[in-house]
Amino acid sequence: MSRVTLSRYLIEQTRSNNTPADLRFLIEVVARACKEISHAVSKGALGGVLGSMGTENVQGEVQKKLDVISNEILLEANEWGGHLAGMASEEMDNAYQIPGKYPKGAYLLVFDPLDGSSNIDVNVSVGTIFSVLRCPDEYLSQNDSLDEQAFLQPGTKQVCAGYAIYGPQTMLVLTLGNGVKGFTLDRELGSFVLTHDDIRIPESTAEFAINMSNSRHWEPPVSRYVEELLAGEEGPLGKNYNMRWVAAMVADVHRILTRGGLFMYPRDSREPSKPGKLRLMYEANPMSFIVEQAGGVSTNGLERILDIQPTSLHQRVAVYLGSKEEVERVTAYHQA
Ligand code: F6P
Repeated sequence: MSRVTLSRYLIEQTRSNNTPADLRFLIEVVARACKEISHAVSKGALGGVLGSMGTENVQGEVQKKLDVISNEILLEANEWGGHLAGMASEEMDNAYQIPGKYPKGAYLLVFDPLDGSSNIDVNVSVGTIFSVLRCPDEYLSQNDSLDEQAFLQPGTKQVCAGYAIYGPQTMLVLTLGNGVKGFTLDRELGSFVLTHDDIRIPESTAEFAINMSNSRHWEPPVSRYVEELLAGEEGPLGKNYNMRWVAAMVADVHRILTRGGLFMYPRDSREPSKPGKLRLMYEANPMSFIVEQAGGVSTNGLERILDIQPTSLHQRVAVYLGSKEEVERVTAYHQA
């Protein structure tokens, strides 16, 4: 049986889709780092990697040891290759400057090193989310430190987005803007092998994901919509819906890419100054790019997420993504 590895897929993309060689190299390095993270995650208590660091990230969230380890792995793997002008991570206050001893390249790498980290200590799926942007020419200088403004590009500018999910299998799901491919890690060979050739999200679904414990904080359109979902066959939507919530965006989105569904993390009244919990640059943009490439839809309730012009690195956003019919319905309720 001829197996298509990630390397082969990327080389073929260079030939058929004009994927630049330095972008190919960058994706391979990210994939290698994800293998290392997968290995660290799978060690658990045996590797001494569980538990918290006793520090907080810029969001004021307690950092787990594996958050910090995963961040270090991604930085170290990517800083020396000469393909990046800079990096930004959910775990770091400011953009990461490529050390002066290494050459700089044309791309920017943005990542959430370990998404869903409240799942780590309970042995439930977590993942790494990443996004690649081109560094605008005006910020490309070999000598100066990189201005954070360079990163503030709408999601439509992403040239690649992906995630690795560390679950019963480790998978890498990737888009270069021409569909979505899924690769499963063959642990014996140490390579990602193409196993999901054309991932598509069905237009209709009867499954939704939301943290119901926040319902008292929701805005009226969200409450109305979720009430209708819960009303089932007797309600206005005329069908019974099932609910799932893994509390790791990677895992919830992966399920939606596999069998359809709707993921919601609405804006709510807990912190009125913050429009939602999830991060635009590290979570919402890469996942929205993947979801759209798989035929799904992604909005913040009012507009397409990929069209939002970011104003800061750690900006938050409300997220509704997945099967077209339901995302469009809940978006219409907001717009009304
Ligand atoms: O980064 C945020 C995150 O862990 C997501 O992966 C996940 O969807 C969400 O938070 C879970 O939030 P909550 O703990 O409120 O259910």
